[in-house]
Amino acid sequence: MFKINENYLKLPGSYLFSDIGKKVKEFTEANPDKKIIRLGIGDVTLPLVPAVIEALHKATDDMAVKETFKGYAPDLGYEFLRSAIGENDFKKRGVDIAVDEIFISDGAKSDSGNIGDIFDADNKIAVCDPVYPVYVDTNAMEGRAGNYLPEQGKWSNVIYMPCTKETNFAPELPKEEPDIIYLCFPNNPTGAAINKTELQKWVDYANKTGAVIIYDGAYEAYISEEDVPHSIYECDGAKTCAIEIRSFSKNAGFTGTRLGFTVIPKELKCGGVMLNSLWARRHGTKFNGAPYIIQAAGAAVYTEEGKRQTKEQIAYYMKNAKVIREGLTAAGYNVSGGVNAPYIWLETPKDMTSWQFFDYLLKEANVVGTPGSGFGPGGEGYFRLTAFGTYENTLEAIERIKKL
Ligand code: MLT
Repeated sequence: MFKINENYLKLPGSYLFSDIGKKVKEFTEANPDKKIIRLGIGDVTLPLVPAVIEALHKATDDMAVKETFKGYAPDLGYEFLRSAIGENDFKKRGVDIAVDEIFISDGAKSDSGNIGDIFDADNKIAVCDPVYPVYVDTNAMEGRAGNYLPEQGKWSNVIYMPCTKETNFAPELPKEEPDIIYLCFPNNPTGAAINKTELQKWVDYANKTGAVIIYDGAYEAYISEEDVPHSIYECDGAKTCAIEIRSFSKNAGFTGTRLGFTVIPKELKCGGVMLNSLWARRHGTKFNGAPYIIQAAGAAVYTEEGKRQTKEQIAYYMKNAKVIREGLTAAGYNVSGGVNAPYIWLETPKDMTSWQFFDYLLKEANVVGTPGSGFGPGGEGYFRLTAFGTYENTLEAIERIKKL
């Protein structure tokens, strides 16, 4: 008789955004006349920019012609895309990342979930609390998180690093030593950013203790402040302790198109073994590459037109962020985030839990957000709104919330 991976049975409920989707569907079915505004999941609403669409069309035409048709993509991704990434995301910021240290994938969510494959089950992870649920859930699936403790909303073998108002929503170095540290900056869900001096402390700590940092930089394009690093490799010594994961979803609207990449420097080793080789082995075995047309579209993001057009999109979303921040502040809420990230983190009214506030907002204002506690116990008492809606809907949502 076969056996299942019993770690899956330890997972509570379903994935956060599936739970929210179900609740919203029920409400919509019961109230078909209500106009719901969705500022919950961080999904973009603007179409792909013209430079990307043009590249998609051209690459599609390539697939129709014998001479330019492409079959399987190279394991690590097309060199044209990897060199554009190396040049624009790293070299221009003073960081040397070689093309064979960049692995193209179908997105940062897959990479941040799959990266655990190259680590032993006997590693202790540390995560921020609140945190993007994928890091914890995927470690639980691989048997690294211990058991779920429902009364605490925590896993028994995970080190939680509280990110509170008192610490400006940044984690402090943990007392107990982790082996794998997940950091995401600019942060999902709190929208907080970390400056270079603070990030350097983590790099120094990881190098000193022999830990590896999994750095999720999916929201890098939203950084507006000077002292906020765009890549962890801007910190000295990061190449010997950090893996960086990046996305095309938030900077170029590829949520439905799927493209991302992971950087693993060759200097990053464990007992002489390069993590880069392990990931290359894993990638080559379990993944057959992001589609050619999507990689060609991704390369268009780095053209002059592509850069200008995607920058305009980011400015559009950040205008929404300002509307949310300022509107909610005027309505008496305590808000943070929304300056270097497309997420606004607000305190729920004292007499309501995050999920109660979710229900209240859905029922009374027909606005969907994300309850902070869905991101871990440290998110209780908070609520996340995304700036990825349309400008008109964002204005209307804030007006509705103000009237409550
Ligand atoms: C979120 O809403 O937290 C994100 O959209 C999730 C994701 O990027 O996978």
